Amino acid sequence: MEQYVIKGKTPLRGEVVIGGAKNAALGILAAAVMTDGHCKIENMPNVRDTNVLLQAMEAIGANIRRIDDNTVDISGKEIDALGNITIDNEFIRKIRASYYLIGALLGKYKKAQVALPGGCDIGSRPIDQHIKGFEALGATIRIEHGMIIAEADELIGSHIYLDVVSVGATINIMLAAVMAEGRTIIENAAKEPHIVDIANFLNSMGANIKGAGTDVIRIKGVKELHGTEYSIIPDQIEAGTFMMAAVATRGDVLIKNVIPKHLEAISAKLIEIGATVEEFDEAVRVSATHRLKQTNIKTLPYPGFPTDMQPQMAITLALSEGTSIITESIFENRFKYVDELARMGAKIKVEGNTAVIEGVEGFTGAKVSAPDLRAGAALVIAGLAAEGFTAIEKIGYIQRGYENFEGKLRALGGQIEKVSSEKEIQKFKLKVG
Ligand code: UD1
Repeated sequence: MEQYVIKGKTPLRGEVVIGGAKNAALGILAAAVMTDGHCKIENMPNVRDTNVLLQAMEAIGANIRRIDDNTVDISGKEIDALGNITIDNEFIRKIRASYYLIGALLGKYKKAQVALPGGCDIGSRPIDQHIKGFEALGATIRIEHGMIIAEADELIGSHIYLDVVSVGATINIMLAAVMAEGRTIIENAAKEPHIVDIANFLNSMGANIKGAGTDVIRIKGVKELHGTEYSIIPDQIEAGTFMMAAVATRGDVLIKNVIPKHLEAISAKLIEIGATVEEFDEAVRVSATHRLKQTNIKTLPYPGFPTDMQPQMAITLALSEGTSIITESIFENRFKYVDELARMGAKIKVEGNTAVIEGVEGFTGAKVSAPDLRAGAALVIAGLAAEGFTAIEKIGYIQRGYENFEGKLRALGGQIEKVSSEKEIQKFKLKVG
């Protein structure tokens, strides 16, 4: 089994280039099957989640041509519209976001069968708002034998008010509505940067979507979509993760290919606790020279502090002076890394959706296991900041969303290696001393 071994306490220094946004890519790749033309998509993160989604799309007949590691050409022309168009369990189990294919296929072919997303790792993740949206557009949704079966004679624009601000439901309803007859209005829509990116992508295919990035999205249905060329926005969470790695190791890192506006919630908190954040047009420079101070964080939908940055921020606060409180208001089970972190010397008490963090002077390396994608990345940061050696198991989670994470950290001076045997661990230990 692959794992990361890390020798900590080296401040990260230098430059890192951020890749395309994974969560935008997942919506954009699914949307690309909605035309029979060709979509050339650039700045696609080459990570496990995007690769699994591409495999799911290939399995229903989409034509996928890799131009290079981060560019793909997709055509939905060969999808068998008369067949079942079924996305089976294997793909859904690996990646929830395969459910964007319900919206995309329903929108294009008026039918789709996708396995019901189950077993989630950060809390219960219902899809009632997705279903409510599809039904409002005139689809019938049945759940049979673990599959969601969506069908419609025709889709007709509707006025949909989301009961909770949901990124996934906003995207899925947008996909289903772009070719519906007439006008759709989504109220209480999520405003994340990747929603704007997916809307821009669909508009570049000929859709008519207005208001993405605000809480009211207006869609005027079009007859068909055409091929396009598009470059995905930079990944706000990958950038944020490197920002935390820079300060947790008391380093100094220039993070390139970012949109600083998308990082404001993170930058503001870092400045508040005493780090230095300098903004450039497409880069941020982040550094810390001394121990940082406590603060309180509450995760919220964009533009609030992102839940996907909560574990990485917790690492920084666990090393800061004083007592910090984190309130997780999006997913109820997102503190699973706390027990792992305790093994490295962190003092964190969790009660319900609140973590009370008593800052410690430093961590010591330990053997830990990644509980999910972002918590896994957070444990890597903890290892980089810790005294001695840390081994992190279950790094498959981390590879779902970070491209060449260890390579990028090594280029900043981090002592980290991906290993798959005890022999390789020993070799690493000999190398770094
Ligand atoms: C997306 C992101 C994920 C991020 C999350 C919140 C992708 C692929 N994933 O997940 O990384 O952590 O946004 O920023 O983009 N909810 C319902 N009913 C629904 C849908 C959601 O009650 O039908 C609830 C969820 O349980 C959760 C909240 O709404 O409490 C927000 O979830 P949502 O925004 O939908 O998250 P995802 O789209 O799954």
